[in-house]
Amino acid sequence: MITSLNDRITLNNGTKIPGLGLGVFQIPDADTAAVVSAGIKAGYRLIDTAQIYGNETGTGAGIRQGLAATGLKREDLFITSKLWNNHLTYDQTITAFNDSLTKLGLDYLDLYLIHWPGDHAFKDAYLALQDLYHAGKIKAIGVSNFDIHHLEELAEFAEVTPVLNQVESHPRLNQAALREYAATKDIKIQAWSPLMQGQILKEPTLQAIAAKHQKSVAQVILRWDIQREVLLVVKSVHPERMASNAAVFDFSLTAAEMAQIDALNQNFRVGPNPDQFDF
Ligand SMILES: NC(=O)c1ccc[n+]([C@@H]2O[C@H](COP(=O)([O-])OP(=O)(O)OC[C@H]3O[C@@H](n4cnc5c(N)ncnc54)[C@H](OP(=O)(O)O)[C@@H]3O)[C@@H](O)[C@H]2O)c1
Repeated sequence: MITSLNDRITLNNGTKIPGLGLGVFQIPDADTAAVVSAGIKAGYRLIDTAQIYGNETGTGAGIRQGLAATGLKREDLFITSKLWNNHLTYDQTITAFNDSLTKLGLDYLDLYLIHWPGDHAFKDAYLALQDLYHAGKIKAIGVSNFDIHHLEELAEFAEVTPVLNQVESHPRLNQAALREYAATKDIKIQAWSPLMQGQILKEPTLQAIAAKHQKSVAQVILRWDIQREVLLVVKSVHPERMASNAAVFDFSLTAAEMAQIDALNQNFRVGPNPDQFDF
């Protein structure tokens, strides 16, 4: 279990990933540099962006500002981006990757994900990711929004097992079955929208647990993820919330509290269902 923002979990290819990272979904490009730089100054070491967010340029600027302000080196950070996968050919995938790298101003990515599986849409794209990985342009490759059957389809041809699957997960969607399956394949689960985009912060069970620990509901949820060994990316544009979302290493939930939070599951999604989201 991680014990700080800088603590890393070892992935199936030996790469080490910070367990709790900062996401930049829905942040306009012009605002992103300030958010990313503030995040690095607040101690975040993993920054999660994507081609479709349209803010890789701002993310890159924020990385440079954050490194200058803290004296950290590039390799102290873990940068993720994602391919907007729309039945891309091998060559289109390589072009999209290079474009992301250029926008970010980086010469390698730590992690590159296929953003959505689509309907049998990912084979050529994944083959391209494997070659970029072998060429050293990406330290680790993975997927996002893959259900068990997508992972099974991928396993039929993949030579490199994805290191992780980034999926929607929060107390209303705890992804128990997917987590169990992924564990048997040594694929980590990384939660997106862990706070259900802020829509679960008034839930009474969570409020009661938070009051007991004198913590916020957001902190309780993030702590639950850390204790159930789910990696996560959380988003805030506010430095005080970034700090508070990172103050989750000084308390522990009991087994009973963990079970109470597990029981809030309703298989409810705030985002699209991967099986109904083809593009
Ligand atoms: N792979 C995918 O398909 C996918 C999809 C969605 C998201 N993601 C990734 O996952 C990251 C996180 O998901 P998300 O941004 O959708 O949702 P989230 O992290 O669950 O929630 C973010 C929302 O909660 C608010 N918030 C954050 N901390 C808070 C706190 N302590 N108290 C009260 N409100 C708080 C934020 O507002 P403020 O910013 O105003 O503080 C924002 O509105 C994204 O940024 C992105 O990197 C990936």
